[in-house]
Amino acid sequence: MTTFVNRVFSGVQPTGNLHLGNYLGAIKRFVALQHSHECVYCIVDMHAVTTWQDPKELTNNIREVTAAFLAAGIDPNKHIVFNQSQVAEHAELAWLFNCVARMGWLNRMTQFKDKAGKNRENASVGLFSYPNLMAADILLYKATHVPVGEDQKQHLELTRDIAAKFNHDFAGRIAELGLGESYFPITEPIIGGPAARVMSLRDGSRKMSKSDPSDMSRINLTDDPDTIAKKIRKAKTDPEPLPDSIEDLKQRPEADNLIGIYAAINDSDKETVITEFGGKSFSEFKPALAELAVEKLAPINAKIREYMADPASIDAILTNGADKAREIAKNNMGEIRESFGLVGAIK
Ligand code: TYM
Repeated sequence: MTTFVNRVFSGVQPTGNLHLGNYLGAIKRFVALQHSHECVYCIVDMHAVTTWQDPKELTNNIREVTAAFLAAGIDPNKHIVFNQSQVAEHAELAWLFNCVARMGWLNRMTQFKDKAGKNRENASVGLFSYPNLMAADILLYKATHVPVGEDQKQHLELTRDIAAKFNHDFAGRIAELGLGESYFPITEPIIGGPAARVMSLRDGSRKMSKSDPSDMSRINLTDDPDTIAKKIRKAKTDPEPLPDSIEDLKQRPEADNLIGIYAAINDSDKETVITEFGGKSFSEFKPALAELAVEKLAPINAKIREYMADPASIDAILTNGADKAREIAKNNMGEIRESFGLVGAIK
């Protein structure tokens, strides 16, 4: 059995409108993992361009995700924070994984179907092979753990399949080169908690999403306190008081969502929130949620603005992070090239 160093990798696309789902489902958990793991956090700009991005907005959005990471409490001195396009090995490994992954595997990806919509013929080739780039992000660093929201589960299963196929297909070669029994770890997703899938504030059956045309459907990390409070006040609910048990939440998607949001912001769980608010009306619960959300999100919002006022320092942090990431990437990519038998592999 090859043992791997515990390493966390995760990424966020700089496609604008970073929202509460991204924060509670991912970024807040990135922060917590810094205490127990070596972490690599990436602004995945090459994933962003699989759909059209206005170049100026993209540059701004790369900085904004970085600012959000820093504002939330990610420490770029102790861990690695960088944008994907600065480390060319991501693209190189993605190409090799294009040759490991099977068409059938990618054809099953539900996110491609959702994103491509009805006009699949017109989707970019990059959008189709997107999960291979994601596998490359993770495996380039031999990451053992990946914190993500529930919507990324299928992509992580594909990452595991690619790792296992590579380990199997190249087993003899890897052993010959003294690279261990398995080259890549079979990465564990870290998905869970009360905010693994934050839903739209306008429709409890739809995911909170950057691309929802209604801004009222999501709380953006750049929303000011008044806007946050207004969006919670106007969030869709049903006429019943909050239920007394988790079981009763199952038929109440909007109540379930707001309770999950409260629990996640408060580092608690749904049971505890229900103990406090079960039987109370939404008119009592919503102001409490708004107060909590503003208390926790306003400081992050203020810090994002501060960081964004100094883009040169954000760029310096990204360049420095990319230098650190490249060191690991270059070493591993040399070994991967050698595993394939490519001439000129750097050892
Ligand atoms: P992205 O940019 O869509 O989202 C970033 C993170 O936010 C989570 N998330 C949510 N969590 C809970 N509720 C929601 N409504 C919600 N919406 C988004 C996502 O699950 C994600 O964790 N493919 C990835 C980016 C990526 C990546 C990677 C992630 C590229 N390479 C390598 C991990 C490892 C994506 O599009 O995330």
